[in-house]
Order: sequence, then structure tokens, then C-alpha cells
Amino acid sequence: MSLRSILSGVGGYLPERVVTNDELARTVDTSDAWIQERTGIRQRHFAAPHETACFMGAAAARAALAHAGATADDVDAIIVATSTPDQAFPSTAVRVQAQLGMTRGFGFDLAAACTGFVYGLSVADAMIRAGQVSGVLVIGSEVYSRILNWQDRGTCVLFGDGAGAVFLRAGQGNGTDQGILSTHLHAQGSLGDILYVDGAVGQPDRPGHLVMHGKEVFRHAVTRLAGAVEEALAANNLTHRDIDWLVPHQANRRIIDAMGKRLGLAADRVVVTVDRHANTSAASVPLALAEACQDGRIKRGQLVLLEALGGGLTWGSALVRM
Ligand code: UT7
Repeated sequence: MSLRSILSGVGGYLPERVVTNDELARTVDTSDAWIQERTGIRQRHFAAPHETACFMGAAAARAALAHAGATADDVDAIIVATSTPDQAFPSTAVRVQAQLGMTRGFGFDLAAACTGFVYGLSVADAMIRAGQVSGVLVIGSEVYSRILNWQDRGTCVLFGDGAGAVFLRAGQGNGTDQGILSTHLHAQGSLGDILYVDGAVGQPDRPGHLVMHGKEVFRHAVTRLAGAVEEALAANNLTHRDIDWLVPHQANRRIIDAMGKRLGLAADRVVVTVDRHANTSAASVPLALAEACQDGRIKRGQLVLLEALGGGLTWGSALVRM
């Protein structure tokens, strides 16, 4: 039987500091009512200075390994999806490797904005199926509070910080279809200017702030994600009725509800964290997955559809039998 990537552990980390909409409204020209009505967000977590992408990613990785009953010795590779690394280099992944006390293996960062975790799952799955590695940590870790433009109320109220991780192990799936069934990745670089950061360490005096044309991103999110869902189901000869759980990127409650409706899934089959976490970019899908696995909602054997869309434009899906 061919090798498959089994999701053997999940974990998350959220900064201690919770910031409510009302607290933001003290310094930003906004209101709790506007934010809740347009996005479903009630609060978000903001990182303290020591809570960097590396620190939070390592914490989420430890939680995923513990959940899997594994140790750092079982890890061959670390992939960190982040747009907010601690440093241009070394990569966040190798800093996490050091924090986990690993003395072997390899790691690298992956940049696909909010779709980064789904891209990371796809790369890890390909490496596992090729027999190159047998234990991979895929982490999404973001500190968007450091790149928000506090003068732009259209974006600064939407994001939060956090990290999520999964530990993938090569396996045979116990004779079932357990594991990652498929991943589908997309990008359209010509849409790069509807959601971007206007700087980077390579730019003179421009660390960069997030810029988003929200309405346009919203329009693309609904159509592209619907296409990605259909594509994943068709590739596996499945229908909407086969899906047990949708774990979507957590950008806006209205987009999440539209996707759930499209799949004909009852609201209690769609994992929602945007109300409490806001949009944590590459961390949003693994954080939501970790929450729903650890509180017992998502069970072994169930079919879970992950999807995300973000700057690039990038978007994609992963279909997983837990
Ligand atoms: O993670 C990557 C993927 N990202 C997404 O999927 C995000 C997609 N976009 C969205 O979720 C929505 O477009 C937003 C939540 C960003 C914005 O919602 P919208 O319904 O598209 O609002 P809008 O930008 O059209 O703004 C409507 C009104 C404007 O006022 P006028 O011009 O109608 O008088 C804005 O100035 O709301 C105003 N507004 C605000 N008011 C209070 C914008 N931001 C705020 C704010 N508080 N924070």
C-alpha cells in the first residue's frame, strides 16, 4: 500500500492578552456593533513582545507533538507558514527546531499569506508520499498586530495573533483511506495588489503595513473558495453529503456561513473561531482544527475539508480523513 500522511496530532497557542472590540474602539474610530455585524469578530489575542512567530510556533508544535504522543525525535522536517517571521533569516522553522531541542532534520518557511498552512500541508504530504520524510510538523504562526496600520479602521480591527500546528506521520492508514486524501493549490499573482504588505526587510526604511481592498477580496473569497471545494470533492468522487466538518479560514463570519450553506452543512458542522480569534492568517485553520479536535467535536474516521484564501491571491483546500 502506498504511503499516506496521517494527522496524528494538533495543537495551538494563543497570546494571553485578549483585546475586545470595545477596547479597540477607544483608540480606533469603530464600534463593537460594526465589527460584529460585518465580520462576526468579538475579540482577538495580541502578542506580548516575547510572543513572536517563533515562540508561538514552538508552543503550538509542542502541543501537537504531545497530542500525537510523539517527541521531537520523531520529527524529520518542520514547515512554518508565516508572513510575520522574527527575522528575514534564519527561518522561523529552524529557530523552532532549536527550541524543540532537535539536532537533526531540516526546516523552512513558506510564504502564502493566509493560505500558507494549506500550502504547507500540501508540501509535507508530497514529501511523505515520496518517502523523503516520515514525521513532519506543519505550523502556521502569525503576529499581524505588528504589521497593522492603526490609522486604517478597515483593516486594523480584523486581525489577531496566534499559532497552530499539526504533526503528520507517514502511515498506511490501517487499510482505510485515513490521512490527507488530496490538496489543491492555486495562485493568481495578477491580483497581488488587492491584499498585500507595503514593505519588507529588503525595502529601505519600510517595514511594511497590511493593505487590503476588502470588498474585492470578499468577492474573490466567495467564488474561489466555492470552486476549491467543488474541485476537492470531484477529485475524490465525493459529494457534499460526505463531508463531516468544514474547517475554513477564519476571515469573516459571512464568508464562512456562505461556504457552509454551499456545502449544505448545518452550522454546527462548521468550525468557527473568528468570533474569538479574529483573522490569524496562516494560523487560523490549524488553530480551528486543533480546537475542534481537542474538544472532541472532530473524531477519528471523520472527513474534514480545510480551505483558505489570502494575499497573492492564493487559495486552496485539503481534504483529510482523520
Ligand atoms: O484573510 C484574507 C482574506 N480576507 C478576507 O476574506 C476579508 C474579505 N473582506 C471582508 O471581510 C470585508 O470586505 C470587510 C470586513 C473588510 C469590510 O466589510 P464591508 O462590508 O465590505 O465594508 P466596507 O469596506 O464596504 O465599508 C462599509 C462602511 C464604509 O463607510 P461608508 O463609506 O459606507 O460610509 C466604511 O468606511 O463601513 C465603514 N467602515 C467602518 N466603520 C466602522 C470600515 N471599517 C470600519 C470600522 N468601523 N472598523
